[in-house]
Amino acid sequence: MKPYYKHHLDNQQATAVAMPNSEDFLPLNGTDYVEMYVGNAKQAAYYYQTAWGYELIAYAGLETGLKDRCSYVLKQGKIRLVLTAALTPDSPVAEHVRRHGDGVKVIALWVNDAEYSFNETVKRGAMPAFEPTTLTDEFGSITYSGIHTYGETLHIFVDRANYNGAFMPGFKPAQSLIAASPVGLQYVDHCVGNVELGHMNEWVQFYEEVMGFKLLITFDDNDISTEYTALMSKVVSNGNGYIKFPINEPAKGRKKSQIDEYLDFYRSAGVQHIAVATNDIIHTVTELRKRGVDFLYVPDNYYDDLMERIGVIEEDIADLRKNNILVDRDDEGYLLQLFTKPVQDRPTVFFEIIQRKGAKSFGKGNFKALFEAIEHEQSLRGTLD
Ligand code: FE2
Repeated sequence: MKPYYKHHLDNQQATAVAMPNSEDFLPLNGTDYVEMYVGNAKQAAYYYQTAWGYELIAYAGLETGLKDRCSYVLKQGKIRLVLTAALTPDSPVAEHVRRHGDGVKVIALWVNDAEYSFNETVKRGAMPAFEPTTLTDEFGSITYSGIHTYGETLHIFVDRANYNGAFMPGFKPAQSLIAASPVGLQYVDHCVGNVELGHMNEWVQFYEEVMGFKLLITFDDNDISTEYTALMSKVVSNGNGYIKFPINEPAKGRKKSQIDEYLDFYRSAGVQHIAVATNDIIHTVTELRKRGVDFLYVPDNYYDDLMERIGVIEEDIADLRKNNILVDRDDEGYLLQLFTKPVQDRPTVFFEIIQRKGAKSFGKGNFKALFEAIEHEQSLRGTLD
């Protein structure tokens, strides 16, 4: 089967070049921003400010000269979340929301050279989204460029070394109308993609060949299955490990995988969840719950033998139990994590809250409990069969 990402190269009578992985040809400094296309950005921005504690820092829309869309830029810790909605029915944003519902359009990557990043990835087979472009205002200039990844999702390379404005040229600084009350979110830990059955390896190959990532971990359907459903997952990471992208595909089980449910409702491959890191997950989750963010429910018996499974941890089990926070251990330490329910009407995108205490893994020991919790939600939605 021909990888999706090589289609345009065939059209150009070119061939992808498999480069040796000896050097990191695509240095990435971190996640620059995550942009969601949503039905109503003004109200989504209010939700992420009041419930999630983000601060509004910038805005673009009719007042800044945009005709077909508006965007609210929110920030907490190092995380920038951009919420964009259409102003006209023929805006591409409207079409995206019509098809996918609210969803992640862009995972932007912070680079030192957006032109070089574009040229190097396109040379290796990336489908261009837009050429390197420099935007300038009184705060300096930003150069950015874009390539396609799975589904209709984009990676945008952002070089902001010469910029000290609120977000980027074209946006004006903005302030929350209510005082921002952060919940302790620090940075984007990883972004997970769901792709169609049989396509996981192509996208792993895309990240390896086109972006110079390395395969970090493989989970097969024996690792990730319950009595009823299964999925497979491979995690790729860039050279310095700042960017980690698990890629999931559905696997055959007795009932319908959560990945199938996602694909049915998102109508294509796309971002399944964004994991955001905190230094104090008990505080973060307590605050989020107080403000109405709803999380997956893992049955209470998860905690009964937790100590035997995990060993000694610094947190009080009673606090974890009260907040339904999960724990897993690997060779290097442990991690605490919890998934929200979907954050929009369709059962698609959700967030993970994660605190790492040495562990660099993804909570394999919790997969079964989490997936049973998701199956419970699926059964309520009638999407398990
Ligand atoms: Fe995750």
